[in-house]
Amino acid sequence: MSDNNIQFLARPGESLSGEFRVPGDKSISHRSIMLGSLAEGVTTVEGFLEGEDALATLNAFRDMGVAIEGPDAGRVTINGVGLNGLQQPAAALDMGNSGTSMRLLSGILAAQSFSSTLIGDASLSKRPMARVANPLREMGAKVETAEAGRPPMIVGGGEALTAMHYDMPMASAQVKSCVLLAGLYADGETSVTEPAPTRDHTERMLRGFGYEVITEGSTAKLLGGGTLSGCHIDVPADISSAAFFMVAASITPGADITLRHVGINPTRVGIINILRLMNADIELFDEREVGGEPVADIRVRYRGLKGIHIPEDQVPLAIDEFPVLFVAAACAEGQTVLSGAEELRVKESDRIQVMADGLVDCGIDATPTEDGMVINGVGEGVRPFGAATIATHGDHRIAMSFAVASLRATETITILGCGAVATSFPGFAELCNSIGFKIEVVDNDAN
Ligand code: S3P
Repeated sequence: MSDNNIQFLARPGESLSGEFRVPGDKSISHRSIMLGSLAEGVTTVEGFLEGEDALATLNAFRDMGVAIEGPDAGRVTINGVGLNGLQQPAAALDMGNSGTSMRLLSGILAAQSFSSTLIGDASLSKRPMARVANPLREMGAKVETAEAGRPPMIVGGGEALTAMHYDMPMASAQVKSCVLLAGLYADGETSVTEPAPTRDHTERMLRGFGYEVITEGSTAKLLGGGTLSGCHIDVPADISSAAFFMVAASITPGADITLRHVGINPTRVGIINILRLMNADIELFDEREVGGEPVADIRVRYRGLKGIHIPEDQVPLAIDEFPVLFVAAACAEGQTVLSGAEELRVKESDRIQVMADGLVDCGIDATPTEDGMVINGVGEGVRPFGAATIATHGDHRIAMSFAVASLRATETITILGCGAVATSFPGFAELCNSIGFKIEVVDNDAN
């Protein structure tokens, strides 16, 4: 479990350069374990993210009797048990900090002959699960949650699921995926319509396992009762992890970096679109397709940023990148306005409030709104971040965002509760330091 006594002392940076590959995509890593476990035959994975979130998914399937070898340097071998081969776990399945694990797994578990309990850490225990419990109940599943739809969840136990059409009330890939995964077990056609495009890794990967999924406009549909066939999955580098370095290079004078093998699925490229609207210098090259997912190398060079009104249609496409985009906005010339992003309030922390508090503590003119933020940036030639001690509320992306801010700080930024960085980005501080950051990692438990 994440050690939240880890602090980053992030000292002012000077320059940034290098060519490197960030760890594997978290969303794709979760799905590789889930679908590989439910497939017939063997699935091999390379580039798997060895972060705590994806490992929570891996351990859950081991607890349900799936033989999984690895991870070993990003390689995992999964001996699939088929759609109906999971066994009842001996104890509650611990999803740690991972909302993706809990929400997607609930869709699979709703259809099992046994019932299972899903628990999480303090942050996950506060997050809304009614968004998956409600559609699963509509399909006939037995789902219990704690008060106000929070975890723990108790799911399944021999209920036959009925296929249905679901009009999703919010743009959530986790909810869409949960319903589609439950739909694998339902009699007939299950379809989900989304109010705005969300990441489509589940649909793509199901097809990679030979399962037909039809996408028509904003609706994805599949027929229950088929089979998945084991395959090979090459997990691209996570664009959400690459995002920290895209912003880092965009705000650090003289910076020139190249990120290798980054996933550029069109449902994930909001960070590139938004930074480009802010005048960033981002070049994609060697675009290719790897196992159904588009990938590219990405070169980012410093160029002064400008404040913008972020188009609301980009919000779901950059949903995990706003903490670091707020750091970009603080450095940009003029005002940046984000709206339509109320989902940020129910992530690993309330990312609107927690980021606004940290930015204000650093001396930034940032005002949180119900569904976004208004930031008046300083423009080129000024280091906007002063000394501050940041409470991350155990949220990995808050910690990494303020580490990026240190590149344009006048004094050390002390970032508390950085253990959660290991949920999505093991080796973050070491990688940062190898390209020009000055982060000292302090483990208070080791003293
Ligand atoms: C994810 C979807 C997003 C994202 C999360 C991973 C996924 O959540 O924030 O980090 O893998 O499907 P929502 O779908 O709830 O927006």
